[in-house]
Amino acid sequence: MSKSIIVTGAGSGIGESIARKAGVAGYKVGVLDVNTDAAEQVANSLPNGVALHASTTDPDQVEQALDKFGETPDALVNNAGIVRFGPLIDLSFDDWRSVIEVNLTGVFICSQVVARRMRTTGGGSIVNMTSIAGIQPNVNGGSYGSAKAGLHLLTRQMSVEWGEYGIRVNSVAPGFIDGGMSAPIFKDAEIRSTREERVPSGRLGTVDDIAHAVLFLCSEEGSYINGNQLVVDGSVTNSLMASFPRPKSVDSVGAGES
Ligand SMILES: NC(=O)c1ccc[n+]([C@@H]2O[C@H](COP(=O)([O-])OP(=O)(O)OC[C@H]3O[C@@H](n4cnc5c(N)ncnc54)[C@H](O)[C@@H]3O)[C@@H](O)[C@H]2O)c1
Repeated sequence: MSKSIIVTGAGSGIGESIARKAGVAGYKVGVLDVNTDAAEQVANSLPNGVALHASTTDPDQVEQALDKFGETPDALVNNAGIVRFGPLIDLSFDDWRSVIEVNLTGVFICSQVVARRMRTTGGGSIVNMTSIAGIQPNVNGGSYGSAKAGLHLLTRQMSVEWGEYGIRVNSVAPGFIDGGMSAPIFKDAEIRSTREERVPSGRLGTVDDIAHAVLFLCSEEGSYINGNQLVVDGSVTNSLMASFPRPKSVDSVGAGES
């Protein structure tokens, strides 16, 4: 049976990888991006890609993109996102608002537009791109973490409200990813090696690591997974206590006792 998927922000980075892997897996792929050239370039290189020009924050543009796609997709990946770093004490309201607008409100808009259509076709799968920055506060991260934490709650709420329509809603929270919007961070060799060392799995993540997780959640194999956040971070969010070692003498207390 043919499958279809729309990926927002698919003109580059993680979204592009999701679109490419979905294309290889036989999906008809809607490559939705505010950057028209990028959307067309990716869509034209896929076996069955459709470039969809829209901003996820504009309901009319999203409706038109869905009309152009020509069918209700089996899956929607809300991947489009932006970041504006800066200390909260100096952050401009514009920077605060633009990140909330794209990373949280834009996901609500796309999800509502698609869910209304999925309701009439028997359901589907929605995957939202969160971040480990929505789990641990990110110093000088502006409103990014608040938007992603809010998106995690929105994911859970949508899963509860839309389960009866056959719609599953989950999220994927990437960790340190060597690509997309983080590419400039990892061009700094010292930052790169410091971060690599702190990841229990011993490496940075790739855009493909994230794409695999997303497509699993979209697939039939994930059909009973609903309302979850899949953290794909090599366990870095679990490693806080590893930064606070105990003295060796205390580390071995209790050894040898029966
Ligand atoms: N790269 C990372 O390290 C990382 C880590 C955690 C989470 N994420 C999340 O993954 C997602 C993808 O990030 P990326 O690293 O691939 O970034 P990216 O900047 O490479 O790609 C984002 C894409 O979204 C598009 N876009 C931005 N605003 C849009 C809008 N309003 N409407 C439509 N398209 C829009 C951009 O044109 C771009 O093509 C984001 O939600 C980001 O927050 C990324």
